[in-house]
Amino acid sequence: MTTKTTTITSAFSQEVTEGLTSFPKFLSSKYIYDKKGDKLFQDIMAMPTYYLTNCEFEIFETHKEAISKAFTDNEGFDLIELGAGDGKKTKVLLKHLIERGDTFAYLPIDISQNVLDGLKESVEREIPDIVIKPQQGTYFEVLEDVAGYNERKKVIMVLGSNIGNLLHPQAIDFLTNIQNAMTPGDLLYMGFDQKKNPQTILDAYNDPEGVTEAFNKNLLHRINNEMDADFNPDNFKHWEVYDPETGTAKSYLVSTKDQSVTIKSLDLKVDFTAWETIHTEISQKYDDNIVEWLASESGLEIVNEFSDSKAYYKNYLFKKK
Ligand code: AVI
Repeated sequence: MTTKTTTITSAFSQEVTEGLTSFPKFLSSKYIYDKKGDKLFQDIMAMPTYYLTNCEFEIFETHKEAISKAFTDNEGFDLIELGAGDGKKTKVLLKHLIERGDTFAYLPIDISQNVLDGLKESVEREIPDIVIKPQQGTYFEVLEDVAGYNERKKVIMVLGSNIGNLLHPQAIDFLTNIQNAMTPGDLLYMGFDQKKNPQTILDAYNDPEGVTEAFNKNLLHRINNEMDADFNPDNFKHWEVYDPETGTAKSYLVSTKDQSVTIKSLDLKVDFTAWETIHTEISQKYDDNIVEWLASESGLEIVNEFSDSKAYYKNYLFKKK
């Protein structure tokens, strides 16, 4: 039984209330990312089993000339990166564009001002001739501004298969928002992790060191810290499943016993029976057919694609239909 009486304020509180009073229970992976969650994600990206990062890096190393040629324009262009992070992969391309003498400005966008400050400092140090104009905000806020940048070609870039954390209908909304911010001639360059040996995918989300487990359980730590709750994360098990038919990897936290958790600031008591689940994240895997379908539903068309040597991961280039 679950009880609740107080007024709810933040979106995080609202979603925790909704997710933990539903059956089956769920929480949104977007709330994994506080300072500790960001650090754990950096650690995940450094693990060889999390192949996505190295594959996308290899794509930039191998195809930087073809990518640069596709991006460049006589009038110059704006390279707008949504969710820029530490820019490790992007810097390969930025250096190449500068070496080619291409005219462009790099506009990294991220929700974290901290991340943007670090990125600006390192990009300016490593690539002194670059024009960089960071912008802080959520994708949705910033896309509205971006729609107004129409003096020259725009290339919008979204790396890391971030789209994979969205269900297909949300992914279509996201792509449609980007498409609406584009004018004819603009491009979207986006990373999509591909379907592959299911074991390789399970290994990427289930490391024996427990980094992904700690990342997943950061949701419980955040609820404890920010909502005065008493989750014992040791009483939950990280569990990953992958459906090779749909291409959907799903993360769960599974309660290992009957237990009750009190979330004081929500005046909420949540009961778990042994082996009850909280669904926390999806990491969708794609093939060309799914990407073509998502694109056409969103008013976009694939114009080119770049893959790593193992065909684990692809970057697609889209234009407005
Ligand atoms: C950010 N996102 C694309 C990652 C993914 O692969 O779904 C987050 C992640 N979850 C577990 N490991 C990494």
